[in-house]
Amino acid sequence: MRIRVDLAERSYDVLVERGARHQLNELIARRVPDARYVVLIAPETLQVESWFDFAPHVPWSIISIPDGEHAKKLSIVEQLCEEFLARGLSRRDVVVSVGGGATCDVAGFAAAVYQRGLSVIHVATTLVAQVDAAIGGKTGVNLAGAKNMVGSFHQPVGVLCDLETLETLPDRERLCGLGEIAKCWLLESRSIDELERTDLSHWIEVAISLKAAIVSADEREGAQRALLNYGHTLAHALEAEQMSGASFDLRHGEAVAIGLAFAARLARRLGRVDDTVVAHHDAVLDFLDLPRSMPPSANVEELLIAMSKDKKAHHSLTFVLAGGAEFSVVDSLSINDVRAALESFKEEK
Ligand SMILES: NC(=O)c1ccc[n+]([C@@H]2O[C@H](COP(=O)([O-])OP(=O)(O)OC[C@H]3O[C@@H](n4cnc5c(N)ncnc54)[C@H](O)[C@@H]3O)[C@@H](O)[C@H]2O)c1
Repeated sequence: MRIRVDLAERSYDVLVERGARHQLNELIARRVPDARYVVLIAPETLQVESWFDFAPHVPWSIISIPDGEHAKKLSIVEQLCEEFLARGLSRRDVVVSVGGGATCDVAGFAAAVYQRGLSVIHVATTLVAQVDAAIGGKTGVNLAGAKNMVGSFHQPVGVLCDLETLETLPDRERLCGLGEIAKCWLLESRSIDELERTDLSHWIEVAISLKAAIVSADEREGAQRALLNYGHTLAHALEAEQMSGASFDLRHGEAVAIGLAFAARLARRLGRVDDTVVAHHDAVLDFLDLPRSMPPSANVEELLIAMSKDKKAHHSLTFVLAGGAEFSVVDSLSINDVRAALESFKEEK
């Protein structure tokens, strides 16, 4: 399955299939024909050499980076750029990220800034990377205590989503990707019947197709791309509370799932949707075994403070909410409405 991200001269395909990684030689030859050197960037914990029958027509090497969020630092970007320089990389060459979303983000950012931008290909090996991080060109790293604060838009020239690589993914990492898939399923108002009838490869295709369509229409996060933040206002606040020492332990996708359940309830409180929409959200989340209740120790006042600091909130409370036939970004929400909805959500069993 090939899904097009349509951005004029920056268009590219996302290839989703078992064994997609074996297309890397061909993809480099087709998309970066003048490359004289290929750098693969992968977390040190992944033994990626054994995954590839990689034999590009030019010299290549692998650069190992720390695993996960430990790699999303400006110091790692500097190290990567120094390594590129040591290998004599020029703008005609190509960087290939192999790994999860953290690897896409830091490798993509290093590729964006080295000599003002060289080509990058993402070989996405987690569900989160396949359905989200590898597509759309957002790259970046964290500052102390603030995620994704430094970055740029830099579209890849191709994305390979190999379903085989998902077989080694730990359950919890898989669940994180399912949180993003649930978001796409709900944004598309797809039925629970379809979810039950189909399998992971179809769900991945649905999620990638939605993201590709939205990015194609709105590359730089105007109103339409912001819809992809569905469930994320509460999710980011839960993650912020967790970072400042809360006792619960949620991964991003799990926090998004709880955020989706809450967004449906907030929309109902505001009269935008009825009980059937809330029930549909719950059914989708339950089917995917995702959490959908607030951690008992979550503090409503701290969550409200964190939400008002959300960088997408522009100083008032902003949520993506269902309503009528479509979803929209709703800003200037009254803190009292959100507080009441959070308190009643927290009391739900
Ligand atoms: N740029 C974007 O648009 C975007 C979108 C969503 C998320 N993100 C970012 O992506 C990151 C989260 O992505 P993630 O969940 O993939 O995390 P991750 O990159 O940290 O990977 C999770 C873990 O899975 C391991 N792993 C990777 N592939 C594996 C495989 N095939 N088998 C076994 N283990 C494997 C990794 O080594 C890591 O330990 C966050 O930093 C987030 O900010 C970016």
